[in-house]
Amino acid sequence: MTQQSIAVIAGDGIGTEVVPAALDCLHAVASAHGLTFDLVGYPWGSEYFRAHGRMMPVDGLETLAAHDAVLLGAVGVPDIPDTETLWGLLIPIRRGFEQYINLRPVRTLAGVTGPLSTTEPIDFVIVRENNEGEYSEVGGRMYRGRENETAIQEAIFTRQGVARAARFAAELARGRRGLVTSATKSNGIVHTMPFWDEVVAETVADVGGVELEPVLVDALAAKMALKPWTFDVVVASNLFGDILSDLGSALTGSIGVAPSANLNPERRYPSLFEPVHGSAPDIAGKGVANPVGQIWSVVMMLDHLGHADAAHHLQASFEAVLAGGISTPDLGGTATTAEFTRAVLTEIDGRA
Ligand code: NAI
Ligand code: MG
Repeated sequence: MTQQSIAVIAGDGIGTEVVPAALDCLHAVASAHGLTFDLVGYPWGSEYFRAHGRMMPVDGLETLAAHDAVLLGAVGVPDIPDTETLWGLLIPIRRGFEQYINLRPVRTLAGVTGPLSTTEPIDFVIVRENNEGEYSEVGGRMYRGRENETAIQEAIFTRQGVARAARFAAELARGRRGLVTSATKSNGIVHTMPFWDEVVAETVADVGGVELEPVLVDALAAKMALKPWTFDVVVASNLFGDILSDLGSALTGSIGVAPSANLNPERRYPSLFEPVHGSAPDIAGKGVANPVGQIWSVVMMLDHLGHADAAHHLQASFEAVLAGGISTPDLGGTATTAEFTRAVLTEIDGRA
């Protein structure tokens, strides 16, 4: 195999703290498995924006296209609108590289207590449609600042877009417990959501061997808070999937542990791996950010790149550290980012 190449964008805020931590773990686990990667860092993000008026160069996507995967920290700072930061880097990558699946595992980890008073293990995956839906560029704003000011934002749902998300979810569920829960709102959103329901039902039936349970998203949120262990694969539109995945990660302990993969399943373009959380300006620079979401994202990247053994090794290592009672303050512990990472490195060595 030729050496695989990974583009690394640490980005803003705690991205610049958890990405180096995760890279230390990647180096350690790669060397334990005789793997070497060509890692290329790009200093893109809000600092780049301040200097150049853009989040990444004009040919940023072309540059990234030469890599096998992209590892991202987070973008966003309090004094630049998210319409510049997120829409100047993350969203163009997701769309330009047709990363139409955003995969977000939600799982209880030993040693991590969530807010629920249950010991029932939670283990589900959110498949979020990642290219269209409510996060569209269609719409506009008129008569700014006047009494008749008007804002319109159109949601875009296409047969191809809904079907490919539903197909991915159904195929994933077939290798798991065989249940797809579809987040809908066809009682209130009367055009796009009934269409979503129809296309999801057709597609899941076509895949076969999987049970489909459509649930109105408000009720689904309540059920997720009350009985999260009943879910297997949840398929959701861009907005619903975004919201449900923060809820899911909070139920398992902290948004700081949640990973995600933005996948181009056809592998025409590189896929992007990033934690679910953002740049966390409130704790940035303090050295206490939880690196688990970023490390787990590296696990998903290793899996995607075909290194299941290394992925498993890294996963087992950070889970063992948590199970041993070492954690960052968001999980009730006292470890710094560096201390937690050192413990993971020791665990990686011990398991080599
Ligand atoms: P956030 O996820 O950055 O933070 C929410 C809360 O969770 C904060 O209290 C934060 O301290 C805590 N938190 C998040 N990650 C943590 C970690 N690893 N360890 C410990 N605590 C952690 O969401 P927020 O505050 O809504 O957004 C901040 C900025 O990040 C905004 O500009 C937003 O647009 C951006 N953002 C970027 C994302 C990305 O790059 N993919 C995703 C979500 C938000
Ligand atoms: Mg989000």
